[in-house]
Amino acid sequence: MLTDDLIGALRCPLCAAPLHRAASSLRCPSAHSFDLSRHGYAHLGTGRKLPEGDTSAMVDARTRTHSAALFHPLPQAVDHELMDVFGGVFPPWHRDRQNEGPPLVVDLGAGTGYYLAEVLESWPQAGGLAFDVSKAALRRAAKAHPRAGAVLADTWGPLPLADGCADLVLNVFAPRNGPEMRRVLADGGLLLVVTPTADHLRELREALPLLAVDEAKERRLAASLPQFEQFGARTVRWTMDLSREQALDLIGMGPSAHHVDLTDLARRLPDRIEVTAGVDLSTWTGRPLPSRPADRGTPR
Ligand SMILES: C[S@@+](CC[C@H](N)C(=O)[O-])C[C@H]1O[C@@H](n2cnc3c(N)ncnc32)[C@H](O)[C@@H]1O
Repeated sequence: MLTDDLIGALRCPLCAAPLHRAASSLRCPSAHSFDLSRHGYAHLGTGRKLPEGDTSAMVDARTRTHSAALFHPLPQAVDHELMDVFGGVFPPWHRDRQNEGPPLVVDLGAGTGYYLAEVLESWPQAGGLAFDVSKAALRRAAKAHPRAGAVLADTWGPLPLADGCADLVLNVFAPRNGPEMRRVLADGGLLLVVTPTADHLRELREALPLLAVDEAKERRLAASLPQFEQFGARTVRWTMDLSREQALDLIGMGPSAHHVDLTDLARRLPDRIEVTAGVDLSTWTGRPLPSRPADRGTPR
């Protein structure tokens, strides 16, 4: 639910001023107004055309995959990583947050909010904001956890969030906007990124014409985050024993869904198949930000 505490971290996408709730919208002091959808998420688009995001068929496939706990080792690994870093207290270090309120977790490209909800479960004092462009995903993210709110915004663009408002930024299989992730992360906060390993879903890629995972990904990840210093890393692999339908869901929820005919693939899959899942989890702390020129107007 989008509580007033969570709204306190949001900023007007047009003028960067704070937002407040006004009936079924969010407004800033300059009267820019943004819908609160009846499905529970805030629509903070700027009027520019938005990227497509996941379709409702992809979101349904992802939801079935998560409900079947096929990716369960991943939220567990995220939990362990955060436990290692935070030592049981979130967040343990002095933070230079500019908004008051409970610790904040921001999930960029959150999808259905599956990982955000798992993190919030482990950190009972924290609130969370799920950002995505897919309305089908946001409908689910808005209900993913009682302490989570959902926001429609293009995470490639300026994020409608206050400077330094987030104690933890999550980025799981989703687009990465380094400069904006750094701007919204509190000094002393943590960025956690999850990317697939080169052998993720290897057996499906060998059997079917799916998109390959970029092998230079690790180099590209560091290169895409010059505003951050790497703090930790772990790789997690597990094997999934899948029915044909579950294998199709794994394909249908990912980038290959845009390029393949699932009915055709269904004919080429056996009844059951063992498939490798592999993910790299990395944590990052923000490098010091350059000082802001005095004449830049209202800080975001
Ligand atoms: C592969 S899914 C991952 C979803 C979620 N993190 C998970 O792992 O379950 C990528 C998500 O990024 C969203 N997305 C893609 N481009 C985006 C953009 N420019 N701004 C915000 N979200 C975006 C998609 O709609 C999709 O929900």
